[in-house]
Amino acid sequence: MSQKSDRGAPLRRSGGAPRAKGRADGVRYLVGRAADLNSGHSMKFLMPIRGADEECFVINFRGKFHAYVNRCRHVPMAMDWVDNQFFAERGRYLMCQTHNAYYEPVSGECVAGPPETCGKALYRVPLEIEDGRIYARPPEDEFED
Ligand code: FES
Repeated sequence: MSQKSDRGAPLRRSGGAPRAKGRADGVRYLVGRAADLNSGHSMKFLMPIRGADEECFVINFRGKFHAYVNRCRHVPMAMDWVDNQFFAERGRYLMCQTHNAYYEPVSGECVAGPPETCGKALYRVPLEIEDGRIYARPPEDEFED
């Protein structure tokens, strides 16, 4: 794992571009195979959201998959100062490494860290698991920051 800082770096692809798959109710993107993401691990991907490529990440938390936009709710910047490192406290929480905001992995809610961030939640990326593959859909919520 790289120790190089990529703080403030532009969004980058991780693991290749997701492939779009059209459906009647919108577009979804193939992120990867569920079997490749073990419990306690994360995987980043880029997805177009309202015309811009946004870096997102999917986690396997205790056997369930959740995904969020990689954008801290304290300052709108990537949470992983060390690339693809989101888990902290032995995998109990997600953490932004800049000012140590802690987020619940299941809800994305900030439960500790900068006071103005507590109570806010990461922007959830809707997921679908089908035939062992993880698909993501762009979130409908507008970003507040
Ligand atoms: S930018 Fe994430 S805690 Fe400050």
